[in-house]
Amino acid sequence: MPDTLNIIPLPQSVKMGEGFFNCKGIPPVKGDGIFSREIDVFRQQLEACGIPAWIPAGQGAETGIVCRKVETLKDEAYRLKIAREKIILEASSGAGMYHGLQSLRQLFLSGGEGGGKTEGGFALPCADVEDYPRFPWRGLMLDCSRNFYSKNFVKKIIDAISLHHLSIFHWHLTDDQGWRFPVDAYPLLTEIGSKRYDKRRWRYTGGFYTKDDIREVVAYAAARHVEVVPEVDFPGHASSILAPYPGLGCTGGPYGVEDRFGIFEDVLCAGNDAIFDLIEKVFDTLAELFPSKWVHIGGDEVLYNRWNECPKCRKRMEETGLKNSRELQSWITVKLVQMLGERGKTAIGWDEILEDTPAYKLPPQAAVMSWRGRKGGAEAAERGHSVVMSPNTDGCYLDYQPVNDPDEPGQLGTSGIKQLYNMNAVDAGMSAEEASRIIGGQANLWTELVYAARIAEYMIFPRICALAETVWTEKKDFDDFARRLPLHQARLDKLDLIQYRGPLA
Ligand code: ACM
Ligand code: ZN
Repeated sequence: MPDTLNIIPLPQSVKMGEGFFNCKGIPPVKGDGIFSREIDVFRQQLEACGIPAWIPAGQGAETGIVCRKVETLKDEAYRLKIAREKIILEASSGAGMYHGLQSLRQLFLSGGEGGGKTEGGFALPCADVEDYPRFPWRGLMLDCSRNFYSKNFVKKIIDAISLHHLSIFHWHLTDDQGWRFPVDAYPLLTEIGSKRYDKRRWRYTGGFYTKDDIREVVAYAAARHVEVVPEVDFPGHASSILAPYPGLGCTGGPYGVEDRFGIFEDVLCAGNDAIFDLIEKVFDTLAELFPSKWVHIGGDEVLYNRWNECPKCRKRMEETGLKNSRELQSWITVKLVQMLGERGKTAIGWDEILEDTPAYKLPPQAAVMSWRGRKGGAEAAERGHSVVMSPNTDGCYLDYQPVNDPDEPGQLGTSGIKQLYNMNAVDAGMSAEEASRIIGGQANLWTELVYAARIAEYMIFPRICALAETVWTEKKDFDDFARRLPLHQARLDKLDLIQYRGPLA
């Protein structure tokens, strides 16, 4: 008998029993009607990997998976009992049931758990599992602006992260290098802003997701209990807005959709009210397409050179009693948070949005995503904001190399899998109240140098498995994770994911 179930993320509690549940394919799944969608997705997922449905011999054979609603379990929690004659899964919500089914999917993807595998069949070791997440926000960000990825690839990644109980897909949809969704009143955002002349390929590249594409991705994610949080980056990283609408910049342009990477001086002109007309329509579109309560407003890396010199921006500062351009950014941030509030949405932004002013304080409902290390997250928690920890100092930046080796892809630094595994979203010195404001953690894949979906897979897997465990459970043991990982990577192979397999630094 194996002495544990090799699931990632590690369940909160596993008690091994005696013997195995044996089957030759996906056994019948019976359950409360409320779980029919989760059960359908589970079947489709296994069938897509060549694991067929299996009907046990004998009329009315009482075997299979039973899915039951149990009100007393917490929202995302599940209970899994694998016995010789049947498997019982209990949850109070679709999310809990889905997580339980994903743990089972992992066992099926490895033919049971070894040891008891039968010829042409599956042997799942008998066990009792109690499981629930430590944090609600367990996220992956994919930058689809620097490199445009197909709708089908986005769905593939969402399905794969849901195997690890991740709850958030943060979709970075706009940046200097491309605008990726249509806004009816501003058709040039996609007509011009979604394409750039790519000097490496000597041709225009790019693309955008149609409204139907987005609805399809959101529904696909919802069926997997993954919430899609869109990001539109304001007021910096705006070349793909300025190229089609040069009147929205301080100098009037001309501007181009950037093919270079970096931080650019041209940002939205804070003295021009027309930028808010555009932002209103953008937020209306996001509200139409994304059911999530969250909208990510970016706010990172804004250079102030243009604002400092622009007569319109200087007039705005005078009229509004702002001392400098940094205060002008706070003024914009407060407006964006309010505009989202009017649409029933809550803003989240990169930690620069904390750099506010007494007159234009960051509204308390706005959440902060800490990326420049952990400092922003600690300060935000102290000031009463919800926080997602995603520090580039702790392995959360998947655009960094997986190991410091010139043969590996990646830039700017190293994000080793062990470093990411050891990331704790809560700082050791936080009070209980501050700690309660940490809603979770996230890893980010920026894609300046990630020219193809297959390379993105390599950058994401298996590092995201470490992130998944670090935000799911407090019972962390890297050596044990490293022991489970090769078996888990064999599962990811069956999902046709390219993976890093080098040293676990
Ligand atoms: C960021 O990495 N610029 C948020
Ligand atoms: Zn200006």
